[in-house]
Amino acid sequence: MNIILTVILFLSTLLLPLTLCAKDIPDALSIIHNRKSVRHFTGQAVAKEDLEIILKAGMAAPTAVNKQPWSFVVVTDRKDLDALAVVLPYAKMLDQAGAAIVVCAIPNQAFNGSAEFAIIDSTCASENILLAAEALGLGALWTAVYPDKDRIKAVRDILNIPQEVIPLNVIPVGHPTGEDKPKDKYKLENIHWGKWS
Ligand SMILES: Cc1cc2nc3c(=O)[nH]c(=O)nc-3n(C[C@H](O)[C@H](O)[C@H](O)COP(=O)(O)O)c2cc1C
Repeated sequence: MNIILTVILFLSTLLLPLTLCAKDIPDALSIIHNRKSVRHFTGQAVAKEDLEIILKAGMAAPTAVNKQPWSFVVVTDRKDLDALAVVLPYAKMLDQAGAAIVVCAIPNQAFNGSAEFAIIDSTCASENILLAAEALGLGALWTAVYPDKDRIKAVRDILNIPQEVIPLNVIPVGHPTGEDKPKDKYKLENIHWGKWS
């Protein structure tokens, strides 16, 4: 009897991680098409494990010559989230977000030391972050920092970001109220098959 119980216990510990992973994640194309800029949050905190999953997705993005010229500042302190909302005119939803991820581009770590490549690579990471948030049932959106010089300075000052690092955006992350919906942006006139004309 004891042996049977031990075997059952052993098997359930093996299965536990599988059941935890089986969070109902939709397929990739559904996630892409359901992603939307979420500007209405419940105010609930975001679990650290979810933020780690999102950051891992960000860092899985492609980069020129695989340079990964980026860093991510994860903001959960209410004082800092509110301070960012004050200096960013189009990021007032931060006051209800549970967290924010600031994607930072680092030109001197990019291919050819290029700010352009650092920005392009960090933009790829940002899109992965937005998609990962959607996949987890969270809401997020890109709010603009770069290329506005005043906003770059203000975000650097609040978060102690060094001068040589460019805060590209602030991505509020939170639990969506459900008010925000995806838009259909598929336009046949934007496609040129073969040649432009
Ligand atoms: C470079 C960039 C800057 C943006 N800046 C802001 C912003 O400051 N505030 C905001 O509410 N949305 C911002 N957005 C989100 C866009 O408004 C949004 O992506 C667009 O309206 C399309 O809506 P969707 O994301 O729901 O598909 C920005 C998006 C990009 C790509």
